[in-house]
Amino acid sequence: MSDLKTALGEAVAAAFAAEGVPADLARVTPSDRPDLADFQSNGALAAAKRVGKNPREIATAVAERLKGDPRLSSVEIAGPGFINLKVADAALSDRANAVAADPRAGAETMAVPRRVIVDYGGPNVAKEMHVGHLRASIIGESLKRIYRFRGDEVIGDAHFGDWGFQMGLLIAAVCDTHPAIAELVEDLNARGEVTEADKGRLAVLATLGLDDLGALYPPAAERAKGDVEFRNRARRLTAELQSKKAGYYALWERFRDVTREALIRDFHALGVDFDWWKGESDVEDLIGPMVADLDAKALLVDDQGARIVRVDRNGETRPKKLADGTVVEAPWPDPLLVVSSEGSAMYGTTDLATILDRRRAFDFDLVIYCVDQRQADHFEIVFRAAYLAGYADEGQLIHVGFGTMNGTDGKPFKTRAGGVLKLNDLIEMTREKARERLHEQSLGEDVSADEFEEIASKVAVAALKFADLQNFRGTSYIFDLDRFSSFEGKTGPYLLYQVVRVKSLLRRAAGEAARPGPVIVGESAERDLVLALDAFDAALADAYDKKAPNILAEHTYRVAQAWSKFWAACPILQAEPAVCASRLTLATATLRQLELALDLLGIATPDRM
Ligand code: ARG
Repeated sequence: MSDLKTALGEAVAAAFAAEGVPADLARVTPSDRPDLADFQSNGALAAAKRVGKNPREIATAVAERLKGDPRLSSVEIAGPGFINLKVADAALSDRANAVAADPRAGAETMAVPRRVIVDYGGPNVAKEMHVGHLRASIIGESLKRIYRFRGDEVIGDAHFGDWGFQMGLLIAAVCDTHPAIAELVEDLNARGEVTEADKGRLAVLATLGLDDLGALYPPAAERAKGDVEFRNRARRLTAELQSKKAGYYALWERFRDVTREALIRDFHALGVDFDWWKGESDVEDLIGPMVADLDAKALLVDDQGARIVRVDRNGETRPKKLADGTVVEAPWPDPLLVVSSEGSAMYGTTDLATILDRRRAFDFDLVIYCVDQRQADHFEIVFRAAYLAGYADEGQLIHVGFGTMNGTDGKPFKTRAGGVLKLNDLIEMTREKARERLHEQSLGEDVSADEFEEIASKVAVAALKFADLQNFRGTSYIFDLDRFSSFEGKTGPYLLYQVVRVKSLLRRAAGEAARPGPVIVGESAERDLVLALDAFDAALADAYDKKAPNILAEHTYRVAQAWSKFWAACPILQAEPAVCASRLTLATATLRQLELALDLLGIATPDRM
């Protein structure tokens, strides 16, 4: 059963058609004036323009036709020709019963499912995740779930950054500071293989922790900026690693494993999980054949010792700001650098080869790259190269960018000391705040210490995720832990609190053997709750189309608010049996939809607080 908005849209379209005006203009939307109507159609205005008639006349004729519809309790014309529709209580009751009976709480599935890959998270070797990875993880996880829930076949892939220049930098830095490791690496390189007899010696690599790597990397990256010799050495090492030189490869395996462990811990703490934990390095054997293929297609061009693919389309330009502030039209986009002059594969090379790998492993219809907006140019270049080479069809690759998470000073979020905050520390900080908030509200007092911790973790994740997802991804937002962790206002904890209220009501009802029964809508708070529930499918479809989980976040908040008002206005267990039964059904439907919607945002709910 479709939602009321769709059903009424069809009725209004039929009335338009019967009046001989274009039915495609008969759009029905939730009313701007909920005090006057539930839905409205402004179509008569556009239709009037198109057929050269008076809009009020069209609206009046359409309204006359709609008046017989039993689903409507009133049809009125307002202003220059708006049609205001009020839904009959019986129709609302029917819809509520349908939503309550539906395991999907009123959400439809796509008629034609697609095969979709969501590339998100994007963690890198040797670095713990920092707040910059937060948005990629949160938004990507939600998109993956929304797409899957709508019926698509979806794979989430972490696309671990483990094969670029950073690896060469790190190898150089480790060998310079760890003589025993350097010696082992050289020896393995010289012998060209790792044998059973080497197993014992490899133990020295295990002394290398993520903290060591994390400390070595930034100064090495800094040094490479000014020190040409060091930079060239790191480039050479990158190329040698990529050709799988035994010693470098063994060292790199340690980098990869030690990082992956920490990353998985952070991702799990956030409720983020991947179907594929593939990395840049996984396409290593595809790069050679791919380069040959690009060459055979005459797409590769030599450029000062490097090999590139030009992706600009006849002399495109874009305004570019120069150092002195003047703006000039500059050629755009840059070519894709496929093979560096040292012979190594670049970030874009592995991205291009990954498209081939994904095509082979999972014949996708769509790949969504959920990555910082600042990488937009990179993706434009890679996508164009992929289309040129025939590795994907135009439009199958989409970059879904996002803005930054800023501190209360409006600048990218930093620690008090001015450093970049590790994700793990942010999660712990938020958890601590959640504990504090729970105590403040005298919540979680009757549960075991373990359960309290679990509740605090859920409150923390809800705070972090909802703070992010309530904004359109393209805009940057200010991270204000005090505000986001509050149980009041538009926050994750508020939503969890409402869910827990429904759960405890239903537990009490079960204890009193009160049973749900058919919904009979009467009170205005009941009407509003049903109308809020009815909007789920439209919100999901819109979030899906626009790749914008904030639309679903907004819907979830509205349902929670409508529930909260209903709870305040309508006695439930004290009401007479039929009314109590009806309201228990409404509560059950609300709970199911809230839990589904929150799950699609990546937020898990506790059973009590
Ligand atoms: N590891 C990259 C970074 O930290 C993000 C990876 C995004 N995905 C991709 N297919 N390039 O910048």
